[in-house]
Amino acid sequence: MGGLDEAFIQAPEHRPRTHLTNSGDFIFSDEIPTIDLSSIIEDPNSDKTTIATEIAEACERWGFFQVINHGLSSDLRRRVEKTAAEFFDLPTEEKRRVKRDEVNPMGYHDEEHTKNVRDWKEVFDFLLQDPTIAPATPEPEDTELRELTNQWPHNPSDFREVCQEYAREVEKLAFKLLELISISLGLAGDRLTGYFKEQTSFLRFNHYPPCPNPELALGVGRHKDGGALTVLAQDSVGGLQVSRRSDGQWISVKPIPDALIINIGNCMQVWTNDKYWSAEHRVVVNTSKERFSIPFFFFPSHEANIEPLEELTSEENPPCYKKYNWGKFFVSRNRSDFKKLQVENIQI
Ligand code: SIN
Ligand code: FE2
Repeated sequence: MGGLDEAFIQAPEHRPRTHLTNSGDFIFSDEIPTIDLSSIIEDPNSDKTTIATEIAEACERWGFFQVINHGLSSDLRRRVEKTAAEFFDLPTEEKRRVKRDEVNPMGYHDEEHTKNVRDWKEVFDFLLQDPTIAPATPEPEDTELRELTNQWPHNPSDFREVCQEYAREVEKLAFKLLELISISLGLAGDRLTGYFKEQTSFLRFNHYPPCPNPELALGVGRHKDGGALTVLAQDSVGGLQVSRRSDGQWISVKPIPDALIINIGNCMQVWTNDKYWSAEHRVVVNTSKERFSIPFFFFPSHEANIEPLEELTSEENPPCYKKYNWGKFFVSRNRSDFKKLQVENIQI
């Protein structure tokens, strides 16, 4: 097994295949739609019909799309990429000073598991609504939420500032996307905003070092994202694969400079009663190049109750999911078990 720790080894049916050429380069696909947001970024009051139609098609067929001309400055993106790379370059000892644990679930982590197999990566997480700045309202059943705290390293010295600046920008974009997605469903632009009053969103830095056995391990094992949507900045290396809704084939998402990848999460699939798709995805690694990515997980408020929207269900299209409380589901041990939310006998 080439010395790779057993904890990283995927079951044979989940090992990545055929994503590299003979010379070791990725085979990318450009099947996943790219949507140009320039018209609404330049004029927020411009007609949104064309963009909404493109979004509807992408969310139904793929649950994934890329956006370009999205308004997030490339200078800020370079700065956040730089500070994240500098942080990961620190000695492990130093990074572990902000290690996440039972008391501080935000911070650095190098032993992430997906479906009980260890991921080939290290991460740093921080909550958008920084509890040290905006404490959550203390409610008796809110104990888990109140325990969430951000931890910030002293090094790099501008780390916290740059992270928070990026987080504010990416949050603005997420709200714009939420509006466009609502319009694409024939709903009012602000139909979903109320679910995010005290959002539990967080930002993650991923670092995937080169891996000696990329045919056995994964950077992140197959999973669906739990929240409303994810806004992901990936670098030029590539490695993100998406399972095609129509046939389940793994597709490697092509890196486009400065684009952001948007994917639908489970909450959106539930709100839309399966019209929009929360696609399974994973990350493959390689022997020579490290990779960095920055997902922003747009998560509802702790107290939000998620269920198929009334406007999107009918007698002919009854709700496929039971109502669930976001906060309770998120902190529970079963949070990745999306199937538990389905109304009995409905398969997806
Ligand atoms: C993830 O889905 O958690 C990470 C995606 C990526 O690194 O491209
Ligand atoms: Fe993900």
